Order: sequence, then C-alpha cells, then structure tokens
Amino acid sequence: MRIRYFDHAATTPVRPEVLNSMLPFLGIEYGNPSSLYTIGRSSRRAIEEARLEVAKAINCERNEIYFTSCGSESDNLIIKGIMLANKYKGKHMITSKIEHPAVLNSCKWLERNGFDITYLNVDSNGKVLIDELKKSIRRDTVLISIMYANNEIGTIQPITEIGRIAKDNNIIFHTDAVQAMGNIKINVKEQNIDALSMSGHKIYAPKGIGSAYISSKINFENLINGGHQERGRRAGTENVASIVGLGKAISLINREINAYNNHIQTLRDFYISEIERRIDDVKLNGDRFDRLPGNANFSFKGVDAEQLLLYLDSYGICASAGSACTSGQSNPSHVLMAIGLKEEYIQSALRASFGMSNTIEDVKFLVDKIKAFVVKYRE
Ligand SMILES: Cc1ncc(COP(=O)(O)O)c(C=O)c1O
Repeated sequence: MRIRYFDHAATTPVRPEVLNSMLPFLGIEYGNPSSLYTIGRSSRRAIEEARLEVAKAINCERNEIYFTSCGSESDNLIIKGIMLANKYKGKHMITSKIEHPAVLNSCKWLERNGFDITYLNVDSNGKVLIDELKKSIRRDTVLISIMYANNEIGTIQPITEIGRIAKDNNIIFHTDAVQAMGNIKINVKEQNIDALSMSGHKIYAPKGIGSAYISSKINFENLINGGHQERGRRAGTENVASIVGLGKAISLINREINAYNNHIQTLRDFYISEIERRIDDVKLNGDRFDRLPGNANFSFKGVDAEQLLLYLDSYGICASAGSACTSGQSNPSHVLMAIGLKEEYIQSALRASFGMSNTIEDVKFLVDKIKAFVVKYRE
C-alpha cells in the first residue's frame, strides 16, 4: 500500500542528498574528530563546515552553535544551564503553558530545585498574552522562554516583540524553534534571540541530532561533563555523520525556504478550504494567519480522533491526533486545553502537517477519507 505521509511535524524522512552527505562518515571517514591524523582532521573539518551552515541559517557566530543529541537536549541545556549559571542574579523564569514537554519538564525540574516559574496563558488562538508577559517580569527574572511556533496547533508567536521586551528589561530570551526552523526565516541578531533550540529530524535530517545556539554573551552550566568536545561545553565524541546531515539539511532548506513554504502552504490552504467546505461542525485550531505554513489542526465535533487515525491508517495515511510526543498518552492535550477547547473538541482534534513529497492529489485523497469517516461516525 502506498503511504501518504501527513505528519511532518512529528518527523520527516531523511532527504537523499542528506543521506549521501552522511554515508562517508558511516564508512571510510571514521576518524575521531579529536585525533590529529588525517582522517581525524577530516571529521573535524566536516563538523566545522556543518556548524558554519547552522550559524549562517540563523545569523549567529559559528562559536555560538553547540551540537546536541536532539531538540529536547537543547531545551534542557539552555533552560537548566542558563538558570543554574545565573542564579546569583535571580531564580525567576517566564514561559508559556503551551510549550513542548522538553521545556515544561525542564521547568518542573527547576521548580523542584528552588526556582520559580511563571507559566503564561495564551489566547484562544494560542498566542501568548503580551500584557501578561510584561506584568509578570520581576527584578529577579533571568530568562524568558517562548516557543517560536507550536507543534500541535502551529501558532507562531510574536517572537520579535518578545525579544525586544526581553532586551529592554535585560532578560535573556530563549526560543524553542524546533518546529519553526526550515519553515520561517530566523535572524537571532535582529530578533534579539539569545538562545535557540533546533532539531534535525523535523527538517529532513536524521533523528537523534540537534543543535543549541547560545549567544557568546550568555553564561550557562554544562549538562554533560567529560571531554573537551564542543569547546568543553557538551562532552561526548561527536555524532559526526548526523552533524554532517544536519548541516546539509539546513543548507538545502535555507536555499529553498521560499519555494518550500509556497509548496506546503498551498497544500495546507487547499486542505483547510476543502475541510471547511465539505464537512460540517469543524473547528480550525490555532491562529488562522500566524501559523506554520505546513500545519492544519482541525476538531471534528463529536468524532473520536483516535478511531479516525486508525481508519486513515488502513488507507496508508499518516496523521496525528496530538503532538508526536503526547500521542500514546491518555491525558488530553495541554495545548488544546490552554486554548480553551471543550472536551468534545479536544478528543476530536486531528493534526495534518504537510511536507516536501505531498501533492494536491494526496490532499484530496486525505479529505475524501476524512469526510467518509466523519459522516459514517456521526450517523
Ligand atoms: C516544539 C518542539 N520542541 C522540542 C521537540 C523535541 O525535539 P526532539 O524530538 O529532537 O527531542 C519537539 C519535537 O516534537 C518539538 O516539536
């Protein structure tokens, strides 16, 4: 059966060009990048070229990029590392209620260790309330951490405005850009972003590789101690092949970002208009305009989204009933609760996230199957 994949917010396939760039480093180029002989130096060079690509994509310096094992590790490193290193300044941090668990659970860890966290509300579109943000700033606030774009509902936050508020108040600003990278042009200098998390597997690189940008002006504690890798800030022999893959994926997507966005946005807009035209009692979750180009999250009133997913799966269609990291759990989505959805809309939410290989024909097939199920289920 042909797979039609509409779950690019959960993960993406590795692009052939990315895989090809990695293969030598899984074969003949096996030198340890810390070794001084030729094949070691070759691995080192490949890592530094990848670092440059990542830095160029967000307009920071090369020495402000650290490779990690995933987006979750980047979030942990930045949030815990910055709060621990700056605790003499204060123990207060501000975040939002709709962050990814990698951020929320890092905050819970901080709370258990004597720090104080404010969790901002969002409006019914999933936007952070700027007035509430301003009011929650205290003399001991060290860090604001607000995600660039939400993984479930796709809402994009006013990051430039938040960056300015943080700067005016001399507060460090982190954004989890795992979903935004490759979809939105990011410029950390212009947007006053001091720290940023990203992940390879959302941008057609492999799973298990991530990166953290941390401005050279910011102090942070290491989370993984050991050898001198990553300039002594994140120990462990580097995952050379995956780092090379991440660099390649970023350089490709950076070059193609406008065409890629046009492609997935066309599919998304077609999907949204077809769902709203052909099916009654549906609700688009998230901001209609400020949303990721490839994200559409609909509630189908009265429908059980998990049963819908299983039905779609029987036709080779992959979509998601929540975010990848929360599906499989029985708790209702914290994001859908935070935007004030009633139970029947939470249980019936389906996220479709579009990508490179999808076509309009695929989207038509998807809408046909959703409609068939919803009509039957409601009967
Ligand atoms: C917004 C956001 N942050 C962090 C992560 C975690 O990234 P990783 O899977 O690389 O740990 C994800 C993954 O879904 C995400 O969507």
